Amino acid sequence: DQYTVDVFTVVNGAPAQWRVDTRTTLLEALRDSAGLTGTKRGCDQGACGACTVHVDGARVLSCLMLAAQADGRQITTVEGLAGESGLHPMQEAFLRHDAFQCGFCTSGQLMSAVCLLREGRAGSDAEIREYMSGNLCRCGAYGNIVAAVREIADGAGA
Ligand code: FES
Ligand code: FES
Repeated sequence: DQYTVDVFTVVNGAPAQWRVDTRTTLLEALRDSAGLTGTKRGCDQGACGACTVHVDGARVLSCLMLAAQADGRQITTVEGLAGESGLHPMQEAFLRHDAFQCGFCTSGQLMSAVCLLREGRAGSDAEIREYMSGNLCRCGAYGNIVAAVREIADGAGA
């Protein structure tokens, strides 16, 4: 019907086709159509960062993007961060630094942190805090998150 649309996208390197309601958000499509529940729904209104994914390499709040807008784009979720040789270095750093407690915000934090380095925004702890400020952590793991990002940024010469 007029409210249904076919979306052709690539999720974590694999082609995907979704038939979704035009009002479906990317977050809903990822969780409900693709079964990728690593991406979390916190506020559903762009305020918490729990739903952060990468779209064509840039970080996006998936609760604020329509699934239809993903047509022809490359999506990466937390499930796609790890490589064949193991966890992504940022995931390893989060483990080393205990950068989570309940873990609800963690996938969003990871997706933001990986992009932060790409954006060249990890030059100091203050800069990391500023550019990660869209990712809230109700457990208050901020200090350890900054330490994890700092370690990877230092290693990358950022
Ligand atoms: Fe998207 Fe909170 S669920 S920003
Ligand atoms: Fe619980 Fe961040 S670890 S919300």
